[in-house]
Amino acid sequence: MKRVFSGVQPTGNIHLGNYLGALRQFVELQEDNECIYCIVDEHAITVPQDPKELKQHILDVAALYLAIGINPEKAIVFVQSQVSGHAELGWILNCCANTGELFRMTQFKAKSQGKESVGAGLLTYPVLMAADILLYDSDIVPVGNDQKQHIELTRDLAIRVNHKYGKDTFVVPEGRFMKAGARIMALDDPTSKMSKSAENIHSRISLLDDEKKIKKSIMKATTDSEGTIRFDIENKPGVSNLLTIYSVLSGISVEDLEKQYEGKGYGDFKKDLVEVTIGALAPIKEKYNEIRNSQYLIDTLNDGAERADEIAQNTMKRVRDHFGLGL
Ligand code: AMP
Ligand code: TRP
Repeated sequence: MKRVFSGVQPTGNIHLGNYLGALRQFVELQEDNECIYCIVDEHAITVPQDPKELKQHILDVAALYLAIGINPEKAIVFVQSQVSGHAELGWILNCCANTGELFRMTQFKAKSQGKESVGAGLLTYPVLMAADILLYDSDIVPVGNDQKQHIELTRDLAIRVNHKYGKDTFVVPEGRFMKAGARIMALDDPTSKMSKSAENIHSRISLLDDEKKIKKSIMKATTDSEGTIRFDIENKPGVSNLLTIYSVLSGISVEDLEKQYEGKGYGDFKKDLVEVTIGALAPIKEKYNEIRNSQYLIDTLNDGAERADEIAQNTMKRVRDHFGLGL
C-alpha cells in the first residue's frame, strides 16, 4: 500500500478549484492507499489571521473533508498543529534549504510583490509543506497544479538530506495532478486561477454557496464574443474553463459536450451548467450541515491526531538520530 498525504489551508471559501484539483483526488485515493489528510493551520498563519475565525475555519474544512466523502475509517483526518512533529521537522529542514531556492518560488514572489516587508513565514512556508509530507514517509501527494514547484522543492530537500545523512532518512514523494481540473480558472478572469482570496466573490464558486449565488456567478462568467461552445484554452479560456468544470462535475467528456451544444448559445450552456453545479454540490452541503457542529467531528479529529502523531514520532526518532540531535 502506498502512503498518501495532502493538506488544505483553513482560510475559508473552499472552492470548486480546490475540489476539482485536489479534494476530489483525496476521496478516490482512500480506497487503495493509506491516506492522511491534514488541515494545515500552521500554514494559515503565514498571513495574519483572526484567532476566533481561524478556529472556525479549521472545523469548516474538516467538515468539508467528511462531506465530500473522505471516510475517517479509511483515512486519517487531523489538524496539523495537534502534531508537533510538523514544526520540529520544519525547523530541521529549514537548516537544509537555501534562501535562494525559497526566493525563487513563484507563490512567494506573487504574495510578496509590491510589499515593503512580509513575514519570514511566507518565505519558509514551502519548507513546512515539505516537512508535512516527509514526516509521514509519503509516496503520493495529490494537489493542484499551483503546488508543483513546492513538490519539486520537497523532492530536492529529501534527496539532499538522504545524500548527506543516509539514504533511508526520507521517502522521496511524487505529486499527483488531475488531467482535467488541476488548474480551475477564475470565472471573472480566466487568465488567473480561481482563488480563495480574490476580492470579487463571483470569481469563484465556494462549495457552500447557495443556489442564487451559484447561478449569478456562472451567468456572469467571462466568455468571449465568438458564440460557439468549443474547447480552446488559448483563444477561448473562459468557455474552456466552464467546459472543464461541466465535464468533471457531470462525467460527460468535453468532446460530447461540444457536440451536445453545437448550434446553441452561451446562455443555454450556462443555464445547464448552473443545474449541474447545484446538483453536484447539494449533497456535500447537506452532509456538511449535518456534521459541522457535531461532537463526532471533534472526536474524529482527535482520533486522527493520535494516529498521525504515532507515525510522526517514529519518523522524528529516525531523523533526530540521522542528524545527530539529542543524546
Ligand atoms: P489551498 O486553498 O491553497 O490550501 O489549496 C488546497 C488545494 O487546492 C491545493 O492542492 C491546491 O493546489 C488546490 N487548488 C487551489 N486552487 C486551485 C485551482 N484554482 N484549481 C485547481 N486546484 C487548486
Ligand atoms: N501549500 C498547500 C496549498 O497552499 C497546502 C499544503 C500544506 C499542502 N502542506 C501540504 C499540500 C502538504 C499537500 C501536502 O495549497
